[in-house]
Amino acid sequence: MVKSRSRIYPLLSEEQIRLRVRELGTQITSDYAGKDLVVIGLLNGVYPFFADLTRAIDLDLDVNFMRVASYGGGTESTGEVKIIFDVDKSIRGRHALVIEDIVDTGLTLFKVRNLLMDREPASLKIVTLLDKPSRRRVKVPVDYVGFAIEDHFVVGYGLDLEGLHRNLPYVGIYNPA
Ligand code: IMP
Ligand code: MG
Repeated sequence: MVKSRSRIYPLLSEEQIRLRVRELGTQITSDYAGKDLVVIGLLNGVYPFFADLTRAIDLDLDVNFMRVASYGGGTESTGEVKIIFDVDKSIRGRHALVIEDIVDTGLTLFKVRNLLMDREPASLKIVTLLDKPSRRRVKVPVDYVGFAIEDHFVVGYGLDLEGLHRNLPYVGIYNPA
């Protein structure tokens, strides 16, 4: 498969992303004022969004990561979610906010959410940069959405195609044809 950047068509510019991330940060800052907030980023795709969003949240917060894998490569979900590494501290009685790059079928977050809810946090919310609601296969509550998008395979700003294009500063539609 050719993975050339010439197949990528801009969808969200750096400026659009920057402004929206700032809005999300402001909203989260006011929603969690005075609370013990633990943010949990889902690696790898979340890394640019995580860095930008957490810096837009004007609160004392505890930064954590989890790594799960849902795609065996290519552009279709396998329906299987594997925990590669877990949060390394207790979230019991604390306010947990999961930060994700994109919600597609919802299978990844469904599994992550159940796993984290078993640990009895005071609350558990989810923020995602991108949402593809038309692709949902399981119901999962998403509390903050950066952008709802159509059913396109997108890359950039953390999102990859077989490991590539995460470092693009914008989000683009990958068109293989
Ligand atoms: P879900 O389990 O189907 O909701 O998929 C969630 C994960 O699939 C995301 O965290 C991404 O890693 C990956 N994914 C879903 N859609 C896309 C896309 O359009 N581009 C890149 N990765 C995607
Ligand atoms: Mg991901």
